[in-house]
Amino acid sequence: MTPPATNARIDQHFGIDLVRVTEAAALAAGRYMGMGDKNMVDQAAVDAMRSTLSTIQMEGIVVIGEGEKDEAPMLYIGEKLGAAEYPKVDIAVDPIDGTTLTSKGLPGAIAAIAVSLRGTMRVPREVVYMDKLAVNKDARGAIDINASVAENLKNIAKAKKKPVQEIIVIVLDRPRHDKLIADIRAAGARVRLISDGDIAAAIHAATPGSPIDVLMGIGGTPEAVVAAAAIRCVGGEIQGKLWPKDDKERQKAIAAGVDLSKVYSTEELCGGDDVYFAATGVTGGDMLKGVRYFTGGAETHSIVMRSRTGTVRWVDALHDFTRMDKMKPRK
Ligand code: FBP
Repeated sequence: MTPPATNARIDQHFGIDLVRVTEAAALAAGRYMGMGDKNMVDQAAVDAMRSTLSTIQMEGIVVIGEGEKDEAPMLYIGEKLGAAEYPKVDIAVDPIDGTTLTSKGLPGAIAAIAVSLRGTMRVPREVVYMDKLAVNKDARGAIDINASVAENLKNIAKAKKKPVQEIIVIVLDRPRHDKLIADIRAAGARVRLISDGDIAAAIHAATPGSPIDVLMGIGGTPEAVVAAAAIRCVGGEIQGKLWPKDDKERQKAIAAGVDLSKVYSTEELCGGDDVYFAATGVTGGDMLKGVRYFTGGAETHSIVMRSRTGTVRWVDALHDFTRMDKMKPRK
């Protein structure tokens, strides 16, 4: 295959390819909805994602994935996937954001993936958690993760031309957020607590017209990159700051030369001029409906977006399992 003259852009539209990947993950994981085993949920999604990813015309490297090779046999960081040499891209996957939600049959779990040009998605792996602040395009430029909660809420309210009392902040329900929640309430804003799933929550906060105004709080570092890819597409802003969970992690990060005071911008979390994001609902939530199985098939609901154009598509798909079975390679 002749290499492209420039690798500065992705000359094919990955939209449908990526939706097929997240649909496959959701369809596989949805089978384990409510069964109480989050590892089964994750494994089913990882297997399905991996086999669909390997059919796409690209040379992808997993930069945000299921961990190091020795810890996770599939979709490990550094794994190459795809059926061509070009384009060369970075892949960030969260096969299921909300494995616990799925295992408990609770709403809000999604399968998510983001793709951008090679070398555009880089965060230190030493620190598992990141403090995050995400808003939509109206409040872009009005946030500062180093400022106080009250200051941020005041500036977001001003940018969105409404009183602080009308601002709704989505926060993961964790003991580590007790002070954050108290500060938000003391500033006069309202809190919407979620038990898991801060990728969907960040997208919710960044979507124009959403009832959620801002995501605040500490969640996974990989999830911040996937969320940033989506926010590059919808046009809001996310800021992130690494949050070592204990002194051991802090010392490990410092020894590795990681700057713990650095504020990661949306573009630093996910760069490049042509970013793709896709997600499929596993259990129904605010953004996406969950997988609905029926005899012989299922229905899925997905979102796919591209930063270059800003187009956001919702994809409703009917899957005929009798025909899909025929597409499986013969033993
Ligand atoms: P998983 O589905 O991978 O368990 O992640 C769910 C999630 O809620 C993320 O959305 C979030 O970033 C992270 O876990 C928060 O971590 P913790 O549950 O350890 O507070």
